[in-house]
Amino acid sequence: MGDHARIGVVGATGAVGTVTLALLAERGFEDVRAFASERSAGSTVRFGDGELVVERATPDALGAGDVDLFFFSVGTSASRELVPAAAVSGAICVDKSSAYRLVDGYPLVVPEVNGARALDALERDRIVANPNCCSIPLTCVLKPLHDEAGLARVHVSTYQSVSGAGAQRMQALAGESSAEHDLTMDWAWEGDESDEEAKLRAETRKILELPDLPISATCVRVPVLVGHSEAIWVELEEPFSPAEATRLLREAPGVQVLELPEFPTPSAAAGIDEVLVGRIRRDTASSTGLAMYLSCDNLRKGAALNAIQIAELLLAGVAGSRA
Ligand SMILES: NC(=O)c1ccc[n+]([C@@H]2O[C@H](COP(=O)([O-])OP(=O)(O)OC[C@H]3O[C@@H](n4cnc5c(N)ncnc54)[C@H](OP(=O)(O)O)[C@@H]3O)[C@@H](O)[C@H]2O)c1
Repeated sequence: MGDHARIGVVGATGAVGTVTLALLAERGFEDVRAFASERSAGSTVRFGDGELVVERATPDALGAGDVDLFFFSVGTSASRELVPAAAVSGAICVDKSSAYRLVDGYPLVVPEVNGARALDALERDRIVANPNCCSIPLTCVLKPLHDEAGLARVHVSTYQSVSGAGAQRMQALAGESSAEHDLTMDWAWEGDESDEEAKLRAETRKILELPDLPISATCVRVPVLVGHSEAIWVELEEPFSPAEATRLLREAPGVQVLELPEFPTPSAAAGIDEVLVGRIRRDTASSTGLAMYLSCDNLRKGAALNAIQIAELLLAGVAGSRA
């Protein structure tokens, strides 16, 4: 199948959907349809050098059986309504909401970290969950460190751009004066944690298959348009030098290491595929600790690109099973 597959992008007018369409065009996918709610049905979205007319996403339209693979970036309640209808028709569904991420039996996949898990979906109902935009870059960096030295504990503080909250928030920031800019925590509270902090812990544990990993997060929204950053402190099972960690991360897929005087920034990460990691240093508060800092394009690797990489694994898996 590959780039001949019939693709549906649901949520095509949104922040993630727009990037999904751009990346699909870049990667040579040609048979692509755009879906959104009735609000934008009939409008057009850009696809490569041309345009697509947006179709209304209803359970009947998505369940018609004429699409091989859907990308969903529509929010959790819309995903709960639409994904099952599409999956019943036999289509592969890559869902970017939190509807399926933490439900047992649904793979939660970062291809560089646990790509083989994606193929589990082909044995079941063909639904794969795409992780949160902070869990993806975090696990890309933690996985090689865990494999080499064993993770004992993780602390993380995030600096998340407004595009993580959707296209409307991007427009709102663009219309704000710099005096109005602020740091916020605009998530729902679950006791004394935000749901974003709880998600980051639970998703990281699921992706790394470390259900008891101690991990504590503080998530913050910053007035940046695109690009999430994370300050990370890891404790390892045994002492591990910053030089060894740097060597390891240089070899890690999807990761690019920066060394001083360079350091990761959202603007350097925006528009590229790699997770930028730098400031790799000894954590002076822990005998087995390392500190580091990353930036990642939340709309690309944090969302659309990761989902397309999952899709490419699955389409290759389907083609392989038919060969
Ligand atoms: N932004 C990120 O960095 C990021 C990263 C990872 C995951 N995600 C997840 O991706 C999803 C979308 O995020 P976003 O940032 O792209 O949001 P967004 O900019 O607000 O876009 C939402 C999209 O969903 C469509 N939509 C909303 N309700 C719908 C419904 N009932 N039926 C069909 N389409 C519907 C909207 O279409 P209309 O034009 O018709 O309103 C729009 O295309 C969320 O689940 C989010 O958690 C986002």
